[in-house]
Amino acid sequence: MQALVMYHYLQHKTPTPFLLPSSHPQLTPHTRLKTPTPLKLRTRPLNYSIQMDGGGVDSDGRAFTSAEEMWLEEVGEGDPNKKSRWYSQGVGYWEKGVEATVDGVLGGYGHVNKPDIEGSEAFLKSIFAEKFPDAGKGRHLVALDCGSGIGRVTKNLLIRYFNEVDLLEPVSHFLETARSNLAAENSTVADENKAVNFFCHSLQEFTPEAGRYDIIWVQWCIGHLSDDDFLSFFQRAKVGLRHGGIFVLKENIAKNGFVLDKEDKSVTRSDAYFKQLFKNCGLHIYKMKDQKGFPDELFAVKMYALTTELPKRVSSSRTRTKRHANRPAIIK
Ligand SMILES: C[S@@+](CC[C@H](N)C(=O)[O-])C[C@H]1O[C@@H](n2cnc3c(N)ncnc32)[C@H](O)[C@@H]1O
Repeated sequence: MQALVMYHYLQHKTPTPFLLPSSHPQLTPHTRLKTPTPLKLRTRPLNYSIQMDGGGVDSDGRAFTSAEEMWLEEVGEGDPNKKSRWYSQGVGYWEKGVEATVDGVLGGYGHVNKPDIEGSEAFLKSIFAEKFPDAGKGRHLVALDCGSGIGRVTKNLLIRYFNEVDLLEPVSHFLETARSNLAAENSTVADENKAVNFFCHSLQEFTPEAGRYDIIWVQWCIGHLSDDDFLSFFQRAKVGLRHGGIFVLKENIAKNGFVLDKEDKSVTRSDAYFKQLFKNCGLHIYKMKDQKGFPDELFAVKMYALTTELPKRVSSSRTRTKRHANRPAIIK
């Protein structure tokens, strides 16, 4: 699933997302993944994928020397049919076999909901303190929950902080469940906080209303987008931010390069890969944090707060992450 890359089908034949590729014996252990290969000289601008200097693997254990090689195979170059097959397989994965529950959207890991929401709330609060100190004092706040699934993030978090939340989700039965989960009669939040719009669209085809959102929250769905659609989505979505608005991207992180899930057509990118994409989108990291408290077999998860303007001060957990990465216990 999106980047909740799942090796479930390799292991159990039942959905158990987020598992690390190294948990599968056929997959090349992390330490033996291809080392970054030098970039080749290009004779034309690369417009459908970024130039990544690292290789990756797919869920069958096949190694790719570059992201470019993988994207060329998966979505082609300017081939609309191939690309639309990629997206219909991705959405089809969720549409066909996944129940509209927290456990379903979390691929059988419903118990990570609590630490996930707690981690997100702490991150959101730190953003609020700095970016929206006037929240609740007259400032009407609006959020967009992208790839919202059944509205898990909205219901457990965003609706408590934002006066209006819009949801964007391509799978209609998820969106209908979200609508009912968030209906006034099932709500425990103040009347002035409401889920307002339910957009049944994919990220790659969505353009937000200009200047509407204080926060655009993108969690566990961006892995379904090819690099070029990642770039064009954020370019369009920037217009949807109010002045001072921010993107929050919360995603699984590959240790190196990328991991392609062939079944649900999603890619888990490394931190370096994301940072290259942010740069290409003209986005700046305002703040970033590692998610804590998830089971060891899952991918690491990071939260990035991204701005369109260069932040005055960048807060980062990079130092701590680096130190952890040197601890033998977490080398998979
Ligand atoms: C792992 S679930 C996460 C749902 C939600 N963000 C959460 O954290 O509970 C991934 C979601 O991404 C959605 N999705 C798949 N392809 C998408 C696309 N191209 N654009 C937007 N959402 C997509 C799926 O339908 C599914 O609801």
